[in-house]
Amino acid sequence: MSAPKKLFIKTYGCQMNVYDSERMAEALGGEGYVETKSADDADMILLNTCHIREKAAEKVYSELGRFKGLKAEKPDLKIGVAGCVAQAEGEEIMRRQPLVDLVVGPQSYHRLPEMEAKTRAGQKVLDTDFPEEDKFEKLKNRPKAKRGPTAFLTVQEGCDKFCAFCVVPYTRGAEVSRPADRILREAQDLVERGVREITLLGQNVNAYHGAGPNGDLTLAQLIWELDKIDGLERIRFTTSHPNDMQDDLIEAHGTCAKLMPYLHLPVQAGSDKILKRMNRSHTAESYIRLIERIRAARSDILISGDFIVGFPEETEEDFQATMDLVEEVKYGTAYSFKYSTRPGTPAAERPQVDPAAADDRLQRLQALLTRQQREVQDGMVGREVGVLFEKTGRLPGQMVGKSDYLHAVHVADCNRDAGELARVRIVSSGANSLAGELIG
Ligand code: SAH
Ligand code: SF4
Ligand code: F3S
Repeated sequence: MSAPKKLFIKTYGCQMNVYDSERMAEALGGEGYVETKSADDADMILLNTCHIREKAAEKVYSELGRFKGLKAEKPDLKIGVAGCVAQAEGEEIMRRQPLVDLVVGPQSYHRLPEMEAKTRAGQKVLDTDFPEEDKFEKLKNRPKAKRGPTAFLTVQEGCDKFCAFCVVPYTRGAEVSRPADRILREAQDLVERGVREITLLGQNVNAYHGAGPNGDLTLAQLIWELDKIDGLERIRFTTSHPNDMQDDLIEAHGTCAKLMPYLHLPVQAGSDKILKRMNRSHTAESYIRLIERIRAARSDILISGDFIVGFPEETEEDFQATMDLVEEVKYGTAYSFKYSTRPGTPAAERPQVDPAAADDRLQRLQALLTRQQREVQDGMVGREVGVLFEKTGRLPGQMVGKSDYLHAVHVADCNRDAGELARVRIVSSGANSLAGELIG
C-alpha cells in the first residue's frame, strides 16, 4: 500500500471556515489524504481564506508567496485556495499567483475530490459556482473518528441583509437553512463521537428557518429538538442579527437549561445616522430595548458584540453615540474593527473618514471594551459556574475548560477528564482566564 498523501489546511476568518475546513479534510480523507500540521511535508496545501477585511486577503497572497521554495523542491505539491477570497477573486488569484493549482469557493467543497484528481492530471481548476445541490449532504460520509468535547455545526449559510460594508452576501451567497433532520442526525453523530457542546453556526443563525416534519422550524424550535439528545450537554449559536431575535429564542434563554447564557449580538455602531447608512435596519434604541428583553429572560446572560469605527461619514459625535451605547449595554466581550473598504460594496464609494481619526476612535473604543470585559470577568469571582473540561493544563493535575459564559477556567488538582462537566467555584480572575475549584 502506498503511503497516505498529506494535507495541510490553514484556516482564516470565522468559525464557519473552521467547520468547512473539517469538511474539506473529510472529503479529501476519502481520497487517501491524512492531515498534517506542517506545510513542509504536505502533498496538498489548502488555504481556507477570509475576505472580510482588506488585510485578510493580502495575508493570503503573502502566505502563497512563501510556498514558492516548497513548490520548487516538490513539483507534485498542489496548492489550493478555498473560502471567501477564492469566491470573491478566484480568477485574479490564478492570474496573480501561478503557484496556485486550485481555487474552490465555499459552495463547491463537495466537488473537491474530482478537482483534486484534475490537479493530479496537471490541470488548473477553478470552481466558484453556487450549485443547487446540498454540499453538506454530499460531504457527510466521513470517518467515525472520536472527537473533542466541543464542535461547530453549520445550520444556515449566506446572508440577505446586505449591510453596506460587508462582503458576506457576495462571498457566501443568499441565505439558506439546512433541513432540521440533517442537522439533528449530524448532532447525534457528533455526540456519539464524544462531543458534549455544539455551537450552531450561521452568518445569520437566528434567521434559521430550516424544513422540519411539520413546516419550517425556527432556531428556538431547532434548539428544543437538540435539547432532547442525551449526552449533549450544551448548546450555543452564533452569529445573530438584532432584527431576527424572535420571542421564542429570547424565551429559550430563560427556559432551556442546555442553552448557554452567552449571546453574540453585533450592533456595529451606536449612531442612528450611521446605522441607517450601514443598512442595519435597527436603531441604537431598538437594540438596547432588545438587550433589556433578553436580560429579563436570563439576567446573567453575557453579551458579546461587534463594532466598526470609522465607517464613511462617521463624525466624532456619531462615535460618541457608539461609546454611549457600549456604556449602557456593558459587554462581556467584543470584537471591534476599523472600517475596511471592500470593493463592490455600497460604502466603498462614499467619503472615507481620516484614517488617523479612525485609529484614535478604535483605540478609545477598545480601551472601554477591554475595561468592561475585565469587569465582567472579575465579577465571576466567588460565583459557581458549570465548566466543560477540554484539555489538561500546563501544571500537573490541572484541567482547562470553558465556563457557561465562555470564559476559560483553570482548575488545579482536578481529577477529571476532558469532556466532563463540573460545578466549579471561581476563586480568581487573571489576564485572560479564571481560576476555580471543584465543588463537592
Ligand atoms: N453576520 C455577522 C458577522 C459577519 S462579519 C453579523 O451580521 O454580525 C463579522 C464582523 O466583521 C462584522 O460583525 C463586522 O463588525 C466586521 N466587518 C464586516 N465587514 C467589515 C468591513 N468592511 N470593515 C470592518 N469590519 C467589518
Ligand atoms: Fe454581513 Fe450584515 Fe450579513 Fe452580517 S448581517 S453577514 S454584517 S451583510
Ligand atoms: Fe471571512 Fe467569509 Fe467568514 S469573509 S468572516 S470567512 S464568511
